Amino acid sequence: MPTQPISRRHFLAVTSLAAAAGVLGTRSRGEKAPEPSGGFEMILLPYDYGALEPYIDAQTMQLHYDKHYAAYTKNLNEALKDYPDLRGLKIEELLSRVETLPEAVRRAVRNNGGGYYNHGLFWQMMKPQGGSPQGALAGAIKTAFGGLEEMKKAFSAKAAAVFGSGWAWLVVRDGRLEITSTPNQDSPIMKGIAEVEGKPVLALDVWEHAYYLKYKNERAKYIASWWNVVDWDTVKKLYEEALG
Ligand SMILES: [Fe+2]
Repeated sequence: MPTQPISRRHFLAVTSLAAAAGVLGTRSRGEKAPEPSGGFEMILLPYDYGALEPYIDAQTMQLHYDKHYAAYTKNLNEALKDYPDLRGLKIEELLSRVETLPEAVRRAVRNNGGGYYNHGLFWQMMKPQGGSPQGALAGAIKTAFGGLEEMKKAFSAKAAAVFGSGWAWLVVRDGRLEITSTPNQDSPIMKGIAEVEGKPVLALDVWEHAYYLKYKNERAKYIASWWNVVDWDTVKKLYEEALG
């Protein structure tokens, strides 16, 4: 399947549609996008669909971004259409207090807001030729796990052990790195929900939609391949911000 690059123009058109009209679609060149509605907008995929080949295939990336991520974004905006105060919050703030939200929207925000936030992180944590941990991050990994290979082994085991759909995480809690996982679209920033609450610095989507086309039922192969495209510069940046 040919790779179709996402131009900024295409991205803006798609996100404007998703946010303003709640519908994902394509737009002809030069067509003017509607004004933003103030809802949550999809982040720009920082590379082409095929950029992470052969580790993540282009078709999976396209469906994952254009369909799954778009649906979480659309559903989050729809759930909050009558709650302008909540729609105006940063996504981190909204999710941190998800357990205190009105019951009518709590489940929808937990699922779709989690999906929106988790995927937004996930796209940024990958790039071709991801490199290796540097600086204080490398030191923190050594302190917490004994070294990079030990951390990758423990993280991979956690990701493999997720029953059904969910995520594996490297988070900062009380200034230290920890590995955890969440079911469904739960996130470590959800207070009162996450088993280990912390600030995410690395996230791996282990929903079948993230790997099934290429890896079928072999999640462990997907996890092993994924390490080749981890963007360690982003992980380092998030780690430094988390220590803040
Ligand atoms: Fe996903």
